[in-house]
Amino acid sequence: MKKALVTGTTGQDGSYLIELLLAKGYEVHGTKRRSSSFNTSRLENLSRERGSKPDNLFLHYADLADAGSLTNLVRDVQPDEIYNLGAQSHVAVSFEVPEYTADVTGVATIRLLEAIRASGLGTRFYQASSSEMFGSTPPPQNEETPFHPRSPYGAAKVYSYWAAVNYREAYGIHASNGILFNHESHRRGETFVTRKITRAVARIVEGLQTELVLGNLDAVRDWGYAPEYVEAMWLMLQHETADDYVIATGEAHSVREFVEAAFARVNLDWEKYVRTDARYERPSEVDALIGDASKAARVLGWKPKTTFTELVNLMVDEDLQSVRDERSGKLVRIDI
Ligand code: NAP
Ligand code: GDD
Repeated sequence: MKKALVTGTTGQDGSYLIELLLAKGYEVHGTKRRSSSFNTSRLENLSRERGSKPDNLFLHYADLADAGSLTNLVRDVQPDEIYNLGAQSHVAVSFEVPEYTADVTGVATIRLLEAIRASGLGTRFYQASSSEMFGSTPPPQNEETPFHPRSPYGAAKVYSYWAAVNYREAYGIHASNGILFNHESHRRGETFVTRKITRAVARIVEGLQTELVLGNLDAVRDWGYAPEYVEAMWLMLQHETADDYVIATGEAHSVREFVEAAFARVNLDWEKYVRTDARYERPSEVDALIGDASKAARVLGWKPKTTFTELVNLMVDEDLQSVRDERSGKLVRIDI
């Protein structure tokens, strides 16, 4: 039985990756952080489906800012694969907490790579790199496109990207970067734009909210469906040689188009509910990200399946269901 160690298990991607790895028969070890309130809600459906925590899932307290906690975990678990998904992942927030973001989203990658090096185990390493690294370099972006990050988050991810490449070249570690473009789902954090929109649409329909306040509606993103993107992470670590891959749909839409499509799903005119406020704009914006994932298709056989409209519709539908369940008292919180 293969063993995987995943950081960021309580996040959107972590929850989907854990499901994928458990389904493939892995023993999965995940990190979670101490929090004053429950922070494992995304893992709850695993418990709900089975009636208890899956036997092959082990959650450990650790923090990417705490080298000892990471080194001890690698030593104790002896994983075949590590997926480094943990990060301060919000671009706007990274302008408010730049040094913390540099530490957790940047330097922490070296902590994990050093733990692998010291262990001598031959553990394979996945680094959650990001299209934010391309920043202001115009689209389409692929593996050869130069980086020009536009935020402390983007700069920290560039540091981690090169750390993974360097440990591959210097020490022969099987370390791969997945340069993932935006990917969404109903498990997406509520302050990222897609989920903020679909949640607001659901709440407006149910009479719990009257307006939606956004920032820059002109930004263009390449939005895919998160469960398909974690499959690409796994494929990278199964490949004989480590390498770097862009994962994207290649299809571009503006934030305005996302808003329009989300309100259209419930037959509402978005212009009656949406206004903009400069407080949601960033000191420096990334105008357009559109990925060329042809290398991943050619080498890994990975291709996106869910279309933009399907993604918007499924997120609106799930949020409507959640709001209705919550109102009827149907949602039960289980800590895992
Ligand atoms: P997310 O939902 O924000 O999840 C981030 C995870 O990191 C959470 O589990 C969080 O724990 C954990 N974390 C934060 N600070 C930590 C710390 N100091 N120590 C340990 N864990 C910490 O992000 P996501 O959307 O799943 O993205 C997963 C990874 O892919 C991130 O590295 C992100 O930067 C990167 N990425 C995401 C996208 C995308 O479109 N989603 C695209 C490209 C790259 P808590 O729950 O306790 O906060
Ligand atoms: N969050 C947010 N909130 N974004 C808004 C809003 C708003 O009210 N209004 C407009 N936007 C615009 C942002 O300015 C940005 O151009 C775009 O919507 C997308 O913002 P986010 O959903 O916050 O995502 P992101 O593209 O900045 O970052 C996400 O994708 C990266 C990959 O490109 C995050 O998941 C990163 O962790 C990830 O690396």
